Amino acid sequence: MSLPEGYTVRRLQESDFKRGVLDVLTALTTVGDLSELQFNNIVTKWDCLTLMNGKPIYNPVVIINDQDQVVATGMIFIEEKLIHTGGLVGHIEDIAVRNDQQGKKLGKFLIEELKTIGQKAGVYKIILDCDPKNEGFYEKCGFKNAGIEMQYRL
Ligand code: ACO
Repeated sequence: MSLPEGYTVRRLQESDFKRGVLDVLTALTTVGDLSELQFNNIVTKWDCLTLMNGKPIYNPVVIINDQDQVVATGMIFIEEKLIHTGGLVGHIEDIAVRNDQQGKKLGKFLIEELKTIGQKAGVYKIILDCDPKNEGFYEKCGFKNAGIEMQYRL
Protein backbone atom coordinates (compact mmCIF):
# COMPACT_ATOMS: atom_id res chain seq x y z
CA MET A 1 0.00 0.00 0.00
CA SER A 2 1.37 3.46 -0.84
CA LEU A 3 0.49 7.01 0.21
CA PRO A 4 -1.36 9.35 -2.18
CA GLU A 5 1.00 11.73 -4.04
CA GLY A 6 2.27 14.65 -1.95
CA TYR A 7 2.22 12.84 1.41
CA THR A 8 5.15 11.38 3.38
CA VAL A 9 5.39 9.31 6.55
CA ARG A 10 8.02 9.34 9.30
CA ARG A 11 8.58 9.17 13.06
CA LEU A 12 7.22 12.09 15.12
CA GLN A 13 9.82 14.75 15.96
CA GLU A 14 9.90 17.82 18.22
CA SER A 15 9.36 20.26 15.32
CA ASP A 16 5.97 18.62 14.61
CA PHE A 17 4.54 20.76 17.42
CA LYS A 18 4.69 23.64 14.91
CA ARG A 19 3.34 21.42 12.13
CA GLY A 20 0.05 21.03 13.98
CA VAL A 21 0.23 17.50 15.37
CA LEU A 22 -1.83 18.47 18.43
CA ASP A 23 -4.54 20.01 16.22
CA VAL A 24 -4.76 16.70 14.35
CA LEU A 25 -5.28 14.86 17.65
CA THR A 26 -8.35 17.01 18.38
CA ALA A 27 -10.12 14.83 15.75
CA LEU A 28 -9.82 12.08 18.39
CA THR A 29 -10.26 13.76 21.76
CA THR A 30 -9.46 16.73 24.01
CA VAL A 31 -5.76 17.55 23.86
CA GLY A 32 -5.70 20.28 26.50
CA ASP A 33 -3.15 23.05 26.84
CA LEU A 34 0.11 21.15 26.32
CA SER A 35 3.05 23.60 26.05
CA GLU A 36 5.83 23.17 23.49
CA LEU A 37 8.26 22.41 26.35
CA GLN A 38 6.01 19.66 27.72
CA PHE A 39 5.60 18.29 24.19
CA ASN A 40 9.37 18.25 23.62
CA ASN A 41 10.01 16.54 26.96
CA ILE A 42 7.57 13.76 26.12
CA VAL A 43 8.99 13.27 22.60
CA THR A 44 12.56 13.18 24.00
CA LYS A 45 11.57 10.56 26.56
CA TRP A 46 9.83 8.47 23.88
CA ASP A 47 13.01 8.62 21.77
CA CYS A 48 15.20 7.37 24.63
CA LEU A 49 13.25 4.32 25.82
CA THR A 50 14.21 1.07 24.10
CA LEU A 51 13.42 -2.63 24.35
CA MET A 52 16.07 -5.23 25.19
CA ASN A 53 16.42 -5.86 21.43
CA GLY A 54 17.30 -2.15 20.97
CA LYS A 55 14.07 -1.19 19.16
CA PRO A 56 12.09 1.80 20.48
CA ILE A 57 9.26 1.16 22.95
CA TYR A 58 7.31 4.22 21.76
CA ASN A 59 6.80 4.51 18.02
CA PRO A 60 4.83 7.69 17.23
CA VAL A 61 4.31 8.26 13.50
CA VAL A 62 3.06 11.23 11.47
CA ILE A 63 1.89 11.72 7.89
CA ILE A 64 2.91 15.10 6.41
CA ASN A 65 1.30 16.81 3.41
CA ASP A 66 2.98 18.88 0.68
CA GLN A 67 2.40 22.04 2.75
CA ASP A 68 4.60 20.57 5.52
CA GLN A 69 1.63 20.11 7.88
CA VAL A 70 0.85 17.02 9.96
CA VAL A 71 -2.39 15.50 8.64
CA ALA A 72 -2.44 12.16 10.49
CA THR A 73 -0.81 10.62 13.51
CA GLY A 74 -0.77 7.48 15.61
CA MET A 75 1.56 5.26 17.58
CA ILE A 76 2.45 1.71 18.43
CA PHE A 77 3.71 1.13 21.96
CA ILE A 78 5.59 -2.14 22.52
CA GLU A 79 5.03 -3.94 25.82
CA GLU A 80 7.56 -6.52 27.10
CA LYS A 81 5.75 -9.31 28.94
CA LEU A 82 6.78 -12.22 31.17
CA ILE A 83 4.32 -14.58 29.50
CA HIS A 84 5.04 -16.17 26.12
CA THR A 85 8.73 -16.35 27.07
CA GLY A 86 9.10 -12.61 27.51
CA GLY A 87 6.88 -11.97 24.48
CA LEU A 88 6.20 -8.55 22.98
CA VAL A 89 2.70 -7.08 22.45
CA GLY A 90 2.05 -4.00 20.32
CA HIS A 91 -0.60 -1.49 21.42
CA ILE A 92 -1.93 0.87 18.76
CA GLU A 93 -2.88 4.19 20.37
CA ASP A 94 -4.18 7.65 19.50
CA ILE A 95 -4.97 7.33 15.81
CA ALA A 96 -6.22 10.55 14.24
CA VAL A 97 -6.58 11.86 10.70
CA ARG A 98 -7.26 15.61 10.33
CA ASN A 99 -10.98 16.14 9.74
CA ASP A 100 -10.55 17.57 6.22
CA GLN A 101 -8.22 14.68 5.22
CA GLN A 102 -10.38 11.73 6.21
CA GLY A 103 -11.49 9.24 3.56
CA LYS A 104 -8.23 9.38 1.55
CA LYS A 105 -6.85 6.06 2.92
CA LEU A 106 -4.40 7.91 5.17
CA GLY A 107 -5.76 6.11 8.25
CA LYS A 108 -5.38 2.72 6.60
CA PHE A 109 -1.83 3.55 5.48
CA LEU A 110 -0.96 4.70 9.00
CA ILE A 111 -2.19 1.43 10.52
CA GLU A 112 -0.20 -0.58 7.94
CA GLU A 113 2.91 1.45 8.88
CA LEU A 114 2.35 0.78 12.59
CA LYS A 115 1.78 -2.94 11.93
CA THR A 116 5.11 -3.08 10.06
CA ILE A 117 6.92 -1.36 12.96
CA GLY A 118 5.38 -3.87 15.37
CA GLN A 119 6.34 -6.80 13.17
CA LYS A 120 9.96 -5.57 12.91
CA ALA A 121 10.10 -5.16 16.71
CA GLY A 122 9.04 -8.81 17.05
CA VAL A 123 5.54 -8.58 18.52
CA TYR A 124 3.35 -11.69 18.54
CA LYS A 125 0.11 -9.66 18.40
CA ILE A 126 -1.16 -6.09 18.07
CA ILE A 127 -4.19 -4.88 20.02
CA LEU A 128 -6.20 -1.66 20.33
CA ASP A 129 -9.34 -0.21 21.91
CA CYS A 130 -11.83 1.66 19.77
CA ASP A 131 -15.32 3.08 19.67
CA PRO A 132 -17.89 0.72 18.06
CA LYS A 133 -18.32 3.29 15.26
CA ASN A 134 -14.73 2.59 14.15
CA GLU A 135 -15.00 -1.21 14.20
CA GLY A 136 -15.53 -1.31 10.41
CA PHE A 137 -12.40 0.76 9.81
CA TYR A 138 -10.23 -1.58 11.87
CA GLU A 139 -11.78 -4.64 10.21
CA LYS A 140 -10.70 -3.14 6.86
CA CYS A 141 -7.20 -2.91 8.38
CA GLY A 142 -7.26 -6.65 9.20
CA PHE A 143 -8.25 -6.54 12.90
CA LYS A 144 -10.88 -8.78 14.51
CA ASN A 145 -13.11 -8.05 17.49
CA ALA A 146 -11.56 -10.00 20.38
CA GLY A 147 -13.63 -9.06 23.41
CA ILE A 148 -14.73 -6.03 25.36
CA GLU A 149 -12.87 -3.02 26.73
CA MET A 150 -13.08 -2.35 30.49
CA GLN A 151 -12.23 0.98 32.15
CA TYR A 152 -11.63 2.27 35.68
CA ARG A 153 -11.47 6.06 35.45
CA LEU A 154 -9.62 8.26 37.95
N1 ACO B 1 -16.46 2.69 9.80
C1 ACO B 1 -16.36 1.79 8.79
N2 ACO B 1 -15.47 1.89 7.78
C2 ACO B 1 -14.66 2.96 7.79
C3 ACO B 1 -14.71 3.95 8.79
C4 ACO B 1 -15.65 3.78 9.84
N3 ACO B 1 -15.74 4.65 10.86
N4 ACO B 1 -13.76 4.90 8.53
C5 ACO B 1 -13.16 4.50 7.39
N5 ACO B 1 -13.70 3.36 6.95
C6 ACO B 1 -13.31 2.57 5.77
C7 ACO B 1 -13.20 3.40 4.51
O1 ACO B 1 -14.44 3.49 3.83
C8 ACO B 1 -12.15 2.62 3.74
O2 ACO B 1 -12.77 1.49 3.14
P1 ACO B 1 -12.28 0.91 1.72
O3 ACO B 1 -10.81 0.54 1.88
O4 ACO B 1 -13.16 -0.25 1.47
O5 ACO B 1 -12.46 2.03 0.72
C9 ACO B 1 -11.20 2.11 4.81
O6 ACO B 1 -11.99 2.08 6.02
C10 ACO B 1 -9.98 2.98 5.04
O7 ACO B 1 -10.44 4.30 5.30
P2 ACO B 1 -9.44 5.54 5.40
O8 ACO B 1 -9.69 6.49 4.28
O9 ACO B 1 -8.04 5.06 5.56
O10 ACO B 1 -9.92 6.20 6.76
P3 ACO B 1 -9.47 7.62 7.36
O11 ACO B 1 -8.20 8.07 6.77
O12 ACO B 1 -10.62 8.53 7.32
O13 ACO B 1 -9.16 7.21 8.89
C11 ACO B 1 -10.12 7.20 11.09
C12 ACO B 1 -10.15 6.60 9.68
C13 ACO B 1 -8.73 7.02 11.70
C14 ACO B 1 -11.13 6.49 11.95
C15 ACO B 1 -10.44 8.72 10.94
O14 ACO B 1 -11.74 8.87 10.44
C16 ACO B 1 -10.31 9.53 12.22
O15 ACO B 1 -9.23 10.06 12.52
N6 ACO B 1 -11.42 9.64 13.01
C17 ACO B 1 -11.44 10.47 14.22
C18 ACO B 1 -10.50 9.96 15.31
C19 ACO B 1 -10.74 8.51 15.63
O16 ACO B 1 -11.85 8.06 15.88
N7 ACO B 1 -9.62 7.73 15.67
C20 ACO B 1 -9.62 6.31 15.98
C21 ACO B 1 -9.45 6.13 17.46
S1 ACO B 1 -9.18 4.44 17.97
C22 ACO B 1 -7.53 4.36 18.43
O17 ACO B 1 -6.86 5.36 18.51
C23 ACO B 1 -6.91 3.02 18.70
